[in-house]
Amino acid sequence: MYKIGVFVLTALLTLSLAIIANAEMHEKANEKAKMGRELFSDPSFGGTLDPTKVSGLSCSDCHADFDEATTPDGRIRAGHSIIGVPHRGEAKGGMITADIFARAAGGGGFCYQHFLQKVPSDKVDPIAIPEEQAEALMAYFEHVSGDNKGPDFQITMLDKDAASAAADKIMEMKGDAQRGWKLYGQACNVCHPTAQRPGIGSQLVKKRPPRDVEKRKHRIAAYVRKGGFTMPFFTEDRLSDQEIADIVAFIAELIDKKK
Ligand code: HEC
Ligand code: HEC
Repeated sequence: MYKIGVFVLTALLTLSLAIIANAEMHEKANEKAKMGRELFSDPSFGGTLDPTKVSGLSCSDCHADFDEATTPDGRIRAGHSIIGVPHRGEAKGGMITADIFARAAGGGGFCYQHFLQKVPSDKVDPIAIPEEQAEALMAYFEHVSGDNKGPDFQITMLDKDAASAAADKIMEMKGDAQRGWKLYGQACNVCHPTAQRPGIGSQLVKKRPPRDVEKRKHRIAAYVRKGGFTMPFFTEDRLSDQEIADIVAFIAELIDKKK
């Protein structure tokens, strides 16, 4: 009887210790995910290493942290949702390989340096992001993803000629300025608050109209497809050719009004 009592007590004790350890692990993962969620929307996050180089952008300016297909919020972001990132195993079209995947926050390490700290893309080191913060971001991606594999997509980065050819195609389309106005608000406004006022991005409609409006329209279309220094590129599954034609028509209408 006595022996059974001790056995039961020991078993209970071991069980409760295991439960506490498990709860602590969960607690730690939750704490990390919580830190990751805060970093994701923090415009000062890029200043961690050098506050003078911060762009003012945060991850959430360019990525959703929810499933945009099932719960769209009306915004068009340059990057895809981070839902499913932990399931991908590599990122940036293979540039970020499996062995550095977690350390580079599933590809977020590239964005961290390039978009938040304005490091030129050919000088970016995707694992320069501090380890604790990379871990926190990954914990957050895991927390919001669960089993969801996220959107299926392929990125093709365009060089100058390819972007120019894409703009040629867009220029042949008839844009709808009214639709373009709405699309501008959804896709460009975070960085170009209005077309006539600079924000993180430049002023798109200057006081003096450009000499060659067609050339200006072509530049805008090409810029959206290629991206700039800090400006992200928009692939076709984010903004279609027709949608860019609409945005260009909207900006051209504003230029026309200046004349
Ligand atoms: C200025 C816009 C911008 C900002 C800010 C930005 N990203 Fe990105 N990010 C992109 C674009 C564009 C891509 C390439 C297209 C894509 O994969 O969605 C990308 C790619 C990624 C990818 C890889 C997707 C893949 O599998 O190739 C991850 C992960 C990611 N970003 C996370 C982050 C995190 C974390 C932050 C904040 C530290 C961040 N991004 C900040 C625009 C941005
Ligand atoms: C996440 C921020 C961001 C978003 C979103 C963004 N831009 Fe930009 N844009 C910039 C920045 C920053 C610059 C300054 C130059 C650079 O860094 O490339 C810029 C520069 C430009 C330029 C080149 C300057 C000029 O006047 O010729 C054009 C054109 C442009 N943006 C158009 C657009 C359009 C159209 C959209 C929406 C489809 C858009 N941008 C969305 C950040 C952004």
